[in-house]
Amino acid sequence: MPIPVRGLSVPAHVLVTGASSGIGLALAADLLERPGVASVVAVSRHAGSSGEVQALADRHPGRLHAIDADLATDAGIALVAEALRARGHALHLVLHCAGLLHAEGMAPEKSLQQLERAALERVFALNAFAPILLARALQPLLGAGGPAVFASLSARVGSIGDNRLGGWYAYRAAKAAQNQLLRTLAIEWRRTHPHLACVMLHPGTVDTPLSRPFQARVPADALFAPARAARQLLDLVATLGPADSGRFLAWDGRDIPW
Ligand SMILES: NC(=O)c1ccc[n+]([C@@H]2O[C@H](COP(=O)([O-])OP(=O)(O)OC[C@H]3O[C@@H](n4cnc5c(N)ncnc54)[C@H](OP(=O)(O)O)[C@@H]3O)[C@@H](O)[C@H]2O)c1
Repeated sequence: MPIPVRGLSVPAHVLVTGASSGIGLALAADLLERPGVASVVAVSRHAGSSGEVQALADRHPGRLHAIDADLATDAGIALVAEALRARGHALHLVLHCAGLLHAEGMAPEKSLQQLERAALERVFALNAFAPILLARALQPLLGAGGPAVFASLSARVGSIGDNRLGGWYAYRAAKAAQNQLLRTLAIEWRRTHPHLACVMLHPGTVDTPLSRPFQARVPADALFAPARAARQLLDLVATLGPADSGRFLAWDGRDIPW
């Protein structure tokens, strides 16, 4: 298994958000099997009460720490940053997987008439604003010169150039906004923090609660199990460095058009 961050010479401290479900949970599980990983901090609104996160913590005593935080709020982001600061060591890898496509009473829009301000605000708060505000809060923890990667899950449907089907207004637009915000950060980091890489990753279509209502027309061989998606993403991240910062990449390493 490759070390999770290219060029890192110490065991990695990793933050995984959205770690109570789907891709985030599978990433946490995979990382904890790697000797090159010192610790995983697992964040979501209900990470602390998740039976799956607890089972991982029991399997890897002292290496997994759960934090309950709502990353759609300033208070939640501040709580995570403070808890990480209190741990007293640098962070080498952030895998931001918290994301939202549908929720009780909220489905992705099929037409303009279904567009609602409240849904736009809710989807943007988590999918667009949380990653950049999290990066701002964590920047001081991302080491003082050693390699570190901030990877945030995006989605191919956030590509404007690739938008042929329409629909899913809020989710598409929020992922596109995330991409622009993090691309802008990558350009700033090239100047101010050249040891850091900031990338946006499309995991493929993955069998999780987020995609489950929309899997009917996905061919079986194009639907990844979360463990496979996690392995593919970690393999990709391990190849990336500052020269890749600002890229919007699919799980197979191919660039996705903006
Ligand atoms: N699945 C796919 O096919 C697919 C395709 C392309 C992109 N993606 C992207 O991949 C990422 C992970 O998706 P997934 O499929 O693993 O989704 P998922 O199974 O629905 O998991 C979403 C995670 O986000 C957490 N979360 C939701 N709202 C939150 C909030 N306000 N604050 C903190 N955490 C919150 C959830 O935990 P709590 O409920 O405990 O908060 C959960 O752990 C998302 O960004 C998604 O857009 C997924």
